[in-house]
Amino acid sequence: MTIQTVILAAGQGKRMHSSLPKILHRLAGKPLIEYVLDAAHAVSSLPPIIVYGHQGDVIRSALASKKARWVKQSEQLGTGHAVLQTLPELNDADAVLVLSGDVPLISVNTLDKLISSTPKNALGMLTANLANPAGYGRIKRDKKKKITHIIEEKDATVKERAITEINTGIYLVPVKRLRKWLPALKNKNAQKEYYLTDIIAQAVKDKVAIHSVQPEQVEEIYGINDKLQLAQLERFHQRQLAETLMRQGVTLLDPARLDIRGDVQVGRDVVIDVNVILEGRVRIGNNCSIGPHAILRDVELGDSVEVKANSIIENAVISAACVIGPFARIRPGTVLAREVHIGNFVEIKNSEIGSSTKINHLSYIGDADIGQQVNIGAGTITCNYDGANKHRTVIGDHVHIGSDTQLIAPVTVGKAATIGAGSTVAKNVPAGELTLTHTLHQRSTKNWQRPKKPVKLEKT
Ligand code: UD1
Ligand code: CA
Repeated sequence: MTIQTVILAAGQGKRMHSSLPKILHRLAGKPLIEYVLDAAHAVSSLPPIIVYGHQGDVIRSALASKKARWVKQSEQLGTGHAVLQTLPELNDADAVLVLSGDVPLISVNTLDKLISSTPKNALGMLTANLANPAGYGRIKRDKKKKITHIIEEKDATVKERAITEINTGIYLVPVKRLRKWLPALKNKNAQKEYYLTDIIAQAVKDKVAIHSVQPEQVEEIYGINDKLQLAQLERFHQRQLAETLMRQGVTLLDPARLDIRGDVQVGRDVVIDVNVILEGRVRIGNNCSIGPHAILRDVELGDSVEVKANSIIENAVISAACVIGPFARIRPGTVLAREVHIGNFVEIKNSEIGSSTKINHLSYIGDADIGQQVNIGAGTITCNYDGANKHRTVIGDHVHIGSDTQLIAPVTVGKAATIGAGSTVAKNVPAGELTLTHTLHQRSTKNWQRPKKPVKLEKT
């Protein structure tokens, strides 16, 4: 039996109060629907069918790179009506695995369990017991504990609402059955919708066996209908991600205060302090430490890198034994060789910096190529932008640049040159020499009196 996955994603998500379609809201940085697509791909080699409708253009363009088939539901008349739209696309020999675009954390293990344990020709469904079942459809069972039907919360009596076994919205149904049951759905209910849940009662009537399975963890089946549920699931998922890192040997000073929004790989003996955010593709070598409040986005750290508090690093390669921060900002296109030190209030953009070079205080380095063992004094600025174009600054090995120097690009500083503090350098600097752009006029006044503040009389 081949599995065809169908992902329901046509609803508007009214309860999100957002102009962004619900399934494109992000959990740990990734759109909800992408989790479901990944799970669908894991359980079936057939491309999933996505039922779309509301803001279809936005959804289709957001997912343009994904392998999927698209079926439009022009009017959102309910979950049953949504699956009905897919019938022309389905193969009679297959079974459909229905997934919801707003139930992102469903695990492949649970889906595999549902698929492998549901007998051929039976209807498989995933149910869960929730301490707080509010908002979900409830599972009705008879005295022999056999499932008889599903009652939506809006149609349920007070007594029915007390039932804690809920419908997850995930089912496995033979296509042949759907062809009979879906066109027969009625919308006589509180929401005037064609409920997919009503196929359960039809299965009972047609004496089709109903097989129910429970997920490994209940959070897997949490649906996201509003921002509260999104935030709750975000916390749960962050905890899962933190636990994965800890199992790999990472020391997290507080697993509740780390946020991962991407794909993170770590070496051994990594220590991560509180309130760190890791985004995109992050690679962290052995023996690295990440200080509190650091943000790393699309970053590669070599071994023994120390990122100190409040540093932001984006789209950069940081080689072994570099020390960054505190309060450093490393912007896209930066490549640091080994043992570079970047100190507080230093911004680096689109620059390559040679090994053991130090830029320790209050500098802006943009569009520069800097050699090895260079010392850049406090307050040095590369003036890389003339208002229309960006220009490069090239600095040779062993250069020493005095504090408060401006380098007006394009400009080249030769090897082992020294630039005196406070210089404004607009021409190339020869190697090995001392270059200054000013002569000091410094004078002192004897017997000079500092202005005095008027003395305030104390109140008596
Ligand atoms: C649905 C189930 C409920 C279950 C819950 C689990 C029905 C009637 N109810 O309720 O029993 O407990 O899921 O999360 O099925 N959609 C469409 N087209 C439509 C309507 C919905 O594609 O016309 C899509 C939505 O985009 C969403 C999914 O179907 O991805 C579920 O719809 P939603 O409105 O969220 O249903 P629930 O009220 O959560
Ligand atoms: Ca839902």
